[in-house]
Amino acid sequence: MPIDQLGRELKDLRVSVTDRCNFRCQFCMPEGENYEFFKREEILSFEEIARVVRIVKGLGVKKVRLTGGEPLLRRHLENLVALISQEVEDIALTTNGFLLKDKVQDLASAGLKRVTVSLPSLRDQTLSKLVGRDVKVGQILEGIHRSLELGLSVKVNVCVVRDINDDEILDFIEFFRPLGVEVRFIEFMDVGTLNGWSLERVFSAKEIINAISQRYRVKPIGRQRRGETAERFMLEDGYKFGIIASVTQPFCGECNRLRLTADGKLFTCLFASDGYDLKSLLRGGAKDEEIRDFIVALWEKRKDRYSEERLELLKKGIKPKKVEMFKLGG
Ligand code: GTP
Ligand code: 5AD
Ligand code: SF4
Ligand code: SF4
Repeated sequence: MPIDQLGRELKDLRVSVTDRCNFRCQFCMPEGENYEFFKREEILSFEEIARVVRIVKGLGVKKVRLTGGEPLLRRHLENLVALISQEVEDIALTTNGFLLKDKVQDLASAGLKRVTVSLPSLRDQTLSKLVGRDVKVGQILEGIHRSLELGLSVKVNVCVVRDINDDEILDFIEFFRPLGVEVRFIEFMDVGTLNGWSLERVFSAKEIINAISQRYRVKPIGRQRRGETAERFMLEDGYKFGIIASVTQPFCGECNRLRLTADGKLFTCLFASDGYDLKSLLRGGAKDEEIRDFIVALWEKRKDRYSEERLELLKKGIKPKKVEMFKLGG
């Protein structure tokens, strides 16, 4: 198993299957920009992705998460799930939920085990404003209910932006607690360059806990697994929720995630300015061992720890070049 310059193992692969999205979330891909997307021939086929999964499995990767843009826009995603479920057991999907109700049955039959739905508001009006299109909360909830009925493990991601949805934190707990669905509140991050991020707009983990503590006694229970993004908390009735505090409590120290973009580049950090071209190897006749060695070499020189450096860079007014979140899959 490869180890990077900061002693971190490679354990987790995040695969972005498309850079397209049917939402225009303010915090990711705001409306009004002229987006350019990868062309069809630039995008890795399911067979190419499955090959990468097989190779990193040989390096110790046990968990694969499919992301986007919006992964459910990729046609017959269940075929990819079926291919990679032969390699790894833990396959998860991060989706905005818009198409979930119609697709989850096929995905579950193909071997999907976990789904994380991004749902930043429980109010139709706020949700529509936040995601840049007319959406009914009910449609997303239907996808969540169907996933639960099929026995999938479901989490809900709430990216919290000050003065936009920070007043809904208790509503989320109240709504999902009876369903046993884990909500993860995410501090608004400075991913990409287009989302109008500023430190003032970050509703911090501390403020999130304060909001919940107004009604409940909250007990921190730490991380479920080493290197996980979310710190977890428990209410007295046993309900668990999480907070992903990349801004105020960075977790680079244990970061074991490698990212593969839809166009076949590898990124060793969500905030990296550039990736490593894997597609040329995949399409250039390289043997599995060569691809494995390429991945080992890039992991072994990895030093990324952007979230730990962020505030220092901000103070110095340094703005590093960054790739947009929808190209990297979060
Ligand atoms: P689990 O497998 O359930 O732990 O999911 P996850 O938290 O790894 O994935 P998900 O796609 O649900 O991401 C949740 C949030 O964490 C999103 O806002 C991601 O952008 C963010 N995130 C995921 N991995 C990293 C990371 O390595 N660094 C930072 N800073 N944020 C991350
Ligand atoms: N900050 C924090 N989380 C974000 N997401 C998208 N943009 C941001 C941001 N700027 C979340 C989405 C999705 C996950 C992949 O990342 O809500 O759940
Ligand atoms: Fe929103 Fe996810 Fe689409 Fe970004 S990729 S605009 S966070 S739904
Ligand atoms: Fe990993 Fe980069 Fe996120 Fe730090 S900022 S946790 S190194 S992806």
